[in-house]
Formats: sequence, C-alpha cells, structure tokens
Amino acid sequence: MADLHVFPTRANLADAAAARIAEALAEAIDARGTASLVLAGGSTPEPVYRRLATTHVDALDWSAVHVFWGDERCVPPDHPDSNYRMAHEAFLGALEIPDSRIHRMRCERGVEEAVDAYATVLRTFFEDADALFDVTLLGLGEDGHTASLFPDSPLVDTPSGWVAHAEAPASSPVKDRLTLTLPALSASRLVLFLVSGEGKREALHAILNPTENGLLPAARVRPVGSLAWFVDEAAAGPMTTDG
Ligand code: 6PG
Repeated sequence: MADLHVFPTRANLADAAAARIAEALAEAIDARGTASLVLAGGSTPEPVYRRLATTHVDALDWSAVHVFWGDERCVPPDHPDSNYRMAHEAFLGALEIPDSRIHRMRCERGVEEAVDAYATVLRTFFEDADALFDVTLLGLGEDGHTASLFPDSPLVDTPSGWVAHAEAPASSPVKDRLTLTLPALSASRLVLFLVSGEGKREALHAILNPTENGLLPAARVRPVGSLAWFVDEAAAGPMTTDG
C-alpha cells in the first residue's frame, strides 16, 4: 500500500512537503554530518522550495547539504525552462550552500559529455559504498513520466548507468534532457513524489492501482528506503485528506 498523503490544496501540500524535507535533511546531518537532496524540476516543487528558504531557513545547517538534480533541460542556467534557474530563484540563491555542493547538470553545451561529467560527480559522491541520496524529490507528468524518464523510453525498460541523455516528447518543454536513471533514483533513503492538479489524476490512479498493462515510469521508482506520495485533492480526486 502506497504511503499516500492527500492535502486539500497545493499550499497545504507545499507546507507539509517542505516540513518533511527539512526534517529528513536535519536527521541526515545529525547522523552523518552532511545531507544530500535531489531536486525535481517542473512547476509543482516551486512553492515547496520557497518554504525551505523561508519557513525552514533555520531548521538545519544548509551549508552541509549537497544538492543534485533528478533531471535538467539542456538549456543555459538562466533560461526560463531551466530547472536549475527555478530552484536557484526559489531557494538556493537565498541559502548559504557552498557552490561546490550545488551539483548542476551542465548539459547546455553538449549532452554526451554532460552524461559522463555528471556520472563522475555521482561516482565521487558515492565513493563511500553505503552512500545514498537522503531525499529525492520527484514530480509526475500527465503521461506518468518522472524526472525525464518518459513512457516507451528504453531508459525505462533497460536502464544502464546512473545518468542518461533523454529526449522529451514534443508536448514537454525542451527536447534534450539529462536524467538520473531508475537505479540512481532508487539509491535514496526517501523518495518524495509531489503531485498537484487534476491533470495528474489519471496517471496517479494508474500508478496507485497497477494493472497488468505495464507500469508507468513513475511506478518503477523503488527506493532502498521509503517512498511517499504528497498529492493535493485535485490530483487525488475524492479520497480522504491529511490536511
Ligand atoms: C521536468 C521534471 C518533470 C516534472 C513533471 C511534472 O524537468 O519537467 O523533472 O519530471 O517533474 O513533468 O511537472 P509539473 O510539476 O510542472 O507538473
């Protein structure tokens, strides 16, 4: 049974998600002296990020946090479609995190070399054999994609490595992407899906009620730790709420 939390509004979802993220990062720093956070892109996480830099700015030592991305559009870091730009504007720019701990996916100048470069970043971070991402944030597309793992992509059925070049369908902004793969996403103590809006209802229900007709990409994320879904009522439809 999925660890599903349904909130009346997107704001309630953002309040709860920010609190859960801050709590998990603070616990990681208490336990291991550092923490790692994988950011989701798109629009849903933005209010969550803003709360981390305001409500939770003093909840933990942000300078001890390593920041990664689950995926990135291959555009410059100041481009309107950049996941890095959104996160920097929403919270990273306001926090005292050393640049050396902000691990941007730099794929605007060439995807294949960016794949190798980010794989090296992760190998360095994971050189400690039992290292895991402490918190991995993921969104959900209306087609059931997550990060830049899209339905029918070979990355979903035959994942290889931890970082890959992905091509988004025409319906998504920016075709060329860098994405963590399912094995990389699974190396997480906590995966938190953030899902808002009626447009996600069909995909969310398909994921929470898997049938024999195959699993959507987001349904294949299996963290070694725990997995939770923070959704609003618009996405969940008529279910009990936590808020
Ligand atoms: C991206 C994201 C992508 C996103 C979903 C949901 O780079 O686009 O990583 O997986 O999380 O498409 O996007 P919204 O939050 O904007 O609905």
